[in-house]
Amino acid sequence: MSTSETTSAPAPGTLRIAWLPGDGIGREVTAAALGAARPLLADAGVDLVADEHAIGGAALDACGDAFPDATRVAVAGADAVFLGAVGGPAWDAVAPERRPERGLLRLREALGGFANLRPVAVEAAFAHHSPLRSEVVAGTDLVIVRELLGGIHFGTPRGTDGVAPERDAYDTMRYREPEIVRIARVAFALAERRAAADGRAPRVTSVDKANVLASSRLWREVVAGVGAAEFPGVALDHLYVDNAAMQLARRPASFDVVVTGNLFGDILSDLAAALAGSLRMLPSATVGADGDRVVVGIFEPVHGSAPEIAGQGIANPAAAILSLALLLDHTGHGATGDALRGGVRAALATGTATP
Ligand code: IPM
Ligand code: MN
Repeated sequence: MSTSETTSAPAPGTLRIAWLPGDGIGREVTAAALGAARPLLADAGVDLVADEHAIGGAALDACGDAFPDATRVAVAGADAVFLGAVGGPAWDAVAPERRPERGLLRLREALGGFANLRPVAVEAAFAHHSPLRSEVVAGTDLVIVRELLGGIHFGTPRGTDGVAPERDAYDTMRYREPEIVRIARVAFALAERRAAADGRAPRVTSVDKANVLASSRLWREVVAGVGAAEFPGVALDHLYVDNAAMQLARRPASFDVVVTGNLFGDILSDLAAALAGSLRMLPSATVGADGDRVVVGIFEPVHGSAPEIAGQGIANPAAAILSLALLLDHTGHGATGDALRGGVRAALATGTATP
């Protein structure tokens, strides 16, 4: 998996991670990943300090807030955030603004990382893990660049008015031009870096619903403008999200960098994860820059908290391990990140698997 999206800082002697295990299988998969990385980092002379902090349903139960102040302070001072998963049926009855998922959204907002990178790579030797035919998925090597701080996840107004059976519920999908410009730049620059690394022609596919949505028409126009003005060497095409879902299932290997908004990226990344055989395999990195301040990155598996299998020791830690590898890439420990990826690949090659 080639994902050197951001420049790495020089390796310091200590790596301070804010460890947010969250709910369900979040704890066991992130603990397994930290356990795998610790001796590798020690060999490299790096002292790993992973301080645990509460988020999600666990935090709600412990202190009545899914994103407590203590966690907010701790993450801002860390080198990076390593997160498990949040949510579960135990909190289904909780009011919308207090839900575990809101805690995750507030974390993302607090740290300012607007670019969520979700790489999906299927090497030919592992294509048989996919539910699709091997020849369809073999060679897939794409990155979904999902805008993470805008769109319908954050847009206002949202709420529910009225009383049953006449209630009226609504959310707002909105994008401001600067939000689109900055995520477009991340996507184009990533396409250029990937092309430089492996010799392919750089390509970005922008996904929207411009045939219906005003926010998507702005999205399409602004992405095209950034491409033409700043990245003329990167080929750009546009797909409607419904068609993009079909094309990802039909010809995944033809995609390179896919840039899209928050909700479409959420949905398409689960679809893309299934191509690789399992959602359990997909890591993600949330990065961005706010002026000159480099935002603290959040690294988390794309999968959820899977409460139905939590605590049984059967959850697959691969996505968490691969997420930690991305964290190491982004904090200047890329060699250790490569070693972790090598370990996952070796385990897969020997047929090691979880139920
Ligand atoms: C994800 C998740 C989250 C999202 C939820 C839990 C808020 O689905 O990270 O993909 O929608 O972003
Ligand atoms: Mn999701």
